[in-house]
Amino acid sequence: MDLFEYQARDMFEKHGVPVLAGAVATTPEQARAAAERIGAQSGGVTVVKAQVKTGGRGKAGGVKVATSPEEAERLAGQILGMDIKGHTVGTVMIAQGAKIAEEYYFSLLLDRANRTYLAMCSKEGGMEIEQLAVERPDALAKVAVDPNVGIDEAKAREIVAAAGFDAQTGAKIVPVLQRLWDVYHDEDASLVEVNPLVQTEDGAVVALDGKVTLDGNADFRQPEHAALVDTAAADPLEALAKEKGLNYVKLDGNVGIIGNGAGLVMSTLDVVAYAGEDYTGGQAKPANFLDIGGGASAQVMTDGLHIILGDPQVKAVFVNVFGGITACDAVANGIVQALQALGGEEDKPLVVRLDGNNVAEGRRILAEFNHPLVTIEETMDGAAKKVAELAAAAS
Ligand SMILES: Nc1ncnc2c1ncn2[C@@H]1O[C@H](COP(=O)(O)OP(=O)(O)OP(=O)(O)O)[C@@H](O)[C@H]1O
Ligand SMILES: [Mg+2]
Repeated sequence: MDLFEYQARDMFEKHGVPVLAGAVATTPEQARAAAERIGAQSGGVTVVKAQVKTGGRGKAGGVKVATSPEEAERLAGQILGMDIKGHTVGTVMIAQGAKIAEEYYFSLLLDRANRTYLAMCSKEGGMEIEQLAVERPDALAKVAVDPNVGIDEAKAREIVAAAGFDAQTGAKIVPVLQRLWDVYHDEDASLVEVNPLVQTEDGAVVALDGKVTLDGNADFRQPEHAALVDTAAADPLEALAKEKGLNYVKLDGNVGIIGNGAGLVMSTLDVVAYAGEDYTGGQAKPANFLDIGGGASAQVMTDGLHIILGDPQVKAVFVNVFGGITACDAVANGIVQALQALGGEEDKPLVVRLDGNNVAEGRRILAEFNHPLVTIEETMDGAAKKVAELAAAAS
């Protein structure tokens, strides 16, 4: 999960990373009130910042300096409702204005290829960092960070030295990097980025912008992170799936898809997309990703079908199961029980392809159930063609 900048700011503050005062506002009036309070500490100057989960806000006109509460109100009026790369601005942060002497860059992230963490740091931070990384990669220091050690004082010194900071500035940055490590480690983040990390005219080092990505696999030990979820942006079906513990991602097509195992579901999306192109001229496309996992019970099948059938865009459903640990007869019983439990809800055709462990018994159970909306197909390609045609015909 990506955090909004204001959430990252609060998290930084909690771990002792130096930040400036900031408050969120959803109306121009609130922005004015916040600017009155916050600007009092910085000669009336505040910065109105769009809160959207995408980069390049400044360049898009979503970060503006205000010299008075009236101006903050006016700028908030402009920025609220603005579209930045497909994200509508619903919230702004009013940040205390900083007198910036220099802008630096720092990030810490997961380096999958090398199975370690990677710190990146530059004396030349700000809005052009992507360009810098491409044009002058030497100006962006990259230092591996051992996950078992983290950024201790020695590692922080190594990073600032690699970035070429002078001793005096480096000494001020070192403790900040140690606190940013605390954020990364203690909050189970997979990315912490500060751009810019600034030195102000009076010599303080402050994180002026923050991007944090939290690793959802650690949610079980981070109960406080539940409060950071942007419920307004969440798709209701995705929210329901999450509640039921299902791996579901909403897509925009009309063929509902259920499978067991992420790899099988990914390839099911592909064959349905191809079948939709080949046989229906693009009239049929996958409506979702849903992996019910190995060992799927009848309850999981019921929950999965309930979510997929609840998507009004879905016109036909493809159940693609390869029996491994869970035998096909158990899956077939699950489908039967799910359809019985859902009652009249299942008024959409279902194409089922079962293969693998105990397939003959699984197909026999479905054949005997003889549900008018259920078609059994022997191959994945055959099932994809059938479900694409059914969905296209109903759309
Ligand atoms: N509190 C502040 N006081 C003074 N200047 C600021 C403040 N916050 C941001 N700025 C200036 O605005 C620039 C852009 O701000 P910021 O980094 O927050 O947004 P951005 O980089 O455009 O957004 P993103 O990180 O989403 O690409 C900064 O590089 C800095 O020069
Ligand atoms: Mg930035």
